[in-house]
Amino acid sequence: MTSEPPRTELQRGWDIYEIALRDDPHAALRELRESDPVHDAGNGVFLVTRHADVLRVLRDPLLRAGSGVSESFGAASGLLHDVMRSWLMALDGPEHGRARGLVSREFTPRRVAALEPAVAAIAERLVGALANEAASAAGTDLVRGLALALPSEVIRHLFRIEAEEWGERVEPLFRPGGGGQGGGAVLEGLAKYFQEKISRPEALPPDGLLALLRVADPEVGSLSDLEVVANCVLLVTAAIDTTTGLIANAVLCLLRHRGALASLLARPELAPAAVEETLRYEPSALSASRYAPEPVEVGGRELAAGSHLLCSIAAANRDPRRYARPDEFDLSRADREHVGFGGGRHVCLGAPLARLEARAALAALLRRLPRLELAEEPVAFRKDNPTVRAPVRLLVRAARS
Ligand code: HEM
Repeated sequence: MTSEPPRTELQRGWDIYEIALRDDPHAALRELRESDPVHDAGNGVFLVTRHADVLRVLRDPLLRAGSGVSESFGAASGLLHDVMRSWLMALDGPEHGRARGLVSREFTPRRVAALEPAVAAIAERLVGALANEAASAAGTDLVRGLALALPSEVIRHLFRIEAEEWGERVEPLFRPGGGGQGGGAVLEGLAKYFQEKISRPEALPPDGLLALLRVADPEVGSLSDLEVVANCVLLVTAAIDTTTGLIANAVLCLLRHRGALASLLARPELAPAAVEETLRYEPSALSASRYAPEPVEVGGRELAAGSHLLCSIAAANRDPRRYARPDEFDLSRADREHVGFGGGRHVCLGAPLARLEARAALAALLRRLPRLELAEEPVAFRKDNPTVRAPVRLLVRAARS
């Protein structure tokens, strides 16, 4: 009996969700980008992998962002359904513009810059707390101690919710394996929690996000209580997993590329470059999606009305048509643009905050523990959500001389 040569992935048919969950999805994404850049993944879903096509799709005002999202979580009615129809990601056109204008008042560059001392203090405290364990032979888990703890603490600070209450009601949802961004039960749990709080407006801390988002704008109007709840659920879920991934991926990239780490240690002002290069090279948000209410052409392919376009951020960010040496992690790139935060009208509203947190995490970590090394390889990535790429844990230790 003659044995058949092994079939390539292309011949077997791709499973785009399985690819996203691999410890290394980049080789498969490269093959897709080169051989089948607008890939028919079945059920009306197309995976778009080239940078120019991804940008064009994300920026096309005729494509919608939010169609059918709540149904995909099995929520055809009820609180979760209402929440997922009301948050920014579900809206388009003028309705989206109005709501986004109201939510983004709290995330302007000025507002975010004012948070810098508080974020830096949290990062310093967290790094201080893990330094002793990092000095032990077993090392310490940087995901738990810093990458997850920092965005969680920062968003808690923005809501002005007490640590004890946050620890009981919100934090457990975001522990690895606790459901994360993708879980309908998590979203519903958060929605109920915020609904409960907003039902007693007199008890809301006046400088916390829930109260601030209820304030009307004299020109634009105000968000309804449901919209406030929905966008708070979105803010928490959009902010924690992705920023955890950014911080952990940045540390991992630096520990695997010692030349880049040495440059950053010698020149701390390269921290913004390290954050941007991580968002390009190892983005924590793997994809962003759009829906075509009318027929549309993408990358030379005619797609029917009703098609869903899944834009691969990870593939676009390594497109050799756009970047020289795309598979190199290089802090000296002059061109630092990427689609790590999506694009067009739905581009990530929290990008300035995420960048601030990542810079603060790197600064605190490298100042206190400059001789850091990985205590465990290979590093396993999360397998519970095909849109988020982040290590499950990152064991690191302070190297002895
Ligand atoms: C590294 C961290 C983060 C990454 C990689 C990330 C990535 C993304 C991506 C890819 C999108 C979709 C963009 C599109 O459809 O074109 C998005 C949307 C969004 N993000 Fe982020 N995000 C991060 C952190 C945050 C933070 C910290 C917040 C809030 C505090 C936030 C709030 C939002 C919101 C509200 C949207 C929806 C905007 C809209 O639909 O108009 N994100 N983010």
